[in-house]
Amino acid sequence: MEFLKTCVLRRKAWTTVCFWRSQVIQKLSVRKIGTTSPRSTVMPAWVIDKYGKNEVLRFTQNMRMPIIHYPNEVIIKVHATSVNPIDVNMRREEFPLTLGRDVSGVVMECGLDVRYFKPGDEVWAAVPPWKQGTLSEFVVVSGNEVSHKPKSLTHTQAASLPYVALTAWSAINKVGGLNEKNCTGKRVLILGASGGVGTFAIQVMKAWDAHVTAVCSQDASGLVKKLGADDVIDYKSGNVEEQLKSLKPFDFILDNVGGSTETWALNLLKKWSGATYVTLVTPFLLNMDRLGVADGMLQTGVTMGSKTLKHFWQGVHYRWAFFMASGLYLDDIAKLVDEGKIQPVIEKTFPFSEVPEAFLKVERGHARGKTVINVI
Ligand SMILES: NC(=O)c1ccc[n+]([C@@H]2O[C@H](COP(=O)([O-])OP(=O)(O)OC[C@H]3O[C@@H](n4cnc5c(N)ncnc54)[C@H](OP(=O)(O)O)[C@@H]3O)[C@@H](O)[C@H]2O)c1
Repeated sequence: MEFLKTCVLRRKAWTTVCFWRSQVIQKLSVRKIGTTSPRSTVMPAWVIDKYGKNEVLRFTQNMRMPIIHYPNEVIIKVHATSVNPIDVNMRREEFPLTLGRDVSGVVMECGLDVRYFKPGDEVWAAVPPWKQGTLSEFVVVSGNEVSHKPKSLTHTQAASLPYVALTAWSAINKVGGLNEKNCTGKRVLILGASGGVGTFAIQVMKAWDAHVTAVCSQDASGLVKKLGADDVIDYKSGNVEEQLKSLKPFDFILDNVGGSTETWALNLLKKWSGATYVTLVTPFLLNMDRLGVADGMLQTGVTMGSKTLKHFWQGVHYRWAFFMASGLYLDDIAKLVDEGKIQPVIEKTFPFSEVPEAFLKVERGHARGKTVINVI
């Protein structure tokens, strides 16, 4: 008990020291980089105070500036961010909550242990969902979540990529085991190819020399072909399962759609050859909401385990994938971008004053790439 008390007291003391140190440094660095509010301890942000539809989004000039709590953290001045479906569906307990996962911006301040970044560096990152988001003037992130922004992109372009790119990277590379050395000639199917994740996934698969079949609406077929898709299937004209069955079987399927696709898509894989189906649409968050954390995790584990086993006996691999925040993976992605192998796909850009309009757009669905917000 004594030990616990000491820990808590130390943590409080450390937080206080960090806070005041951060305020001083922040003011100095703010002056150096020339923001609009050099003496401020508050900043503009779009926040929510309760769950709900678009009307719960609130603009405030008085969100407390983020501070460095741990020595590995970095404060970024946000130049641009984007809206992802997760922002529209976000659920959390701490209010006011700032939404927004992506950031492209400039480092303002670094914790004592940060080695790879310094104030003034242009960086990009995707912030995990349990942290305050990027629809604000400044955001604090861990140094290991940050990467130097691709030199060939503007902040607006760069902000369109981190969250969807890291999600696709997690599914394709970390869970699916695909990489630049083992993809040549592999047959890849992407379900939901025209949105944020899909448009990135097509490009990375083509960069690694795979054969890509993209499933999307007819009006998106020009876009996905331009990004490199070899075959395009319109899921709205006729039975998509039948259309796909007439093609050769696949080595890898990335499912960005979920729902009933799972009942037929695994039959499109080559059997007993290591072929893998990875879905990004999982019941994980639903289970947590419905059953609470412990039972939700248990239910999720049981569902995932039984599906994996069932498909394993049928000669194919079944997996779930999740977004992973990682500066290291973003370094790899930045390299592909600067080599010209990945282009940002931006459908629409909104100014910071029009965040609710941007949310409405994402809420309506039918994305063709990304919706970006210019913060400055
Ligand atoms: N597991 C995770 O950590 C994680 C992380 C990121 C995203 N996700 C999930 O992954 C999914 C994709 O994310 P995103 O950011 O790419 O979403 P998005 O930008 O909204 O794109 C979804 C795309 O799918 C298309 N679509 C809808 N129904 C389709 C169907 N039956 N067949 C083919 N295409 C269809 C939509 O266009 P049309 O409706 O016009 O066809 C749209 O272009 C979302 O469900 C998201 O929640 C999960």
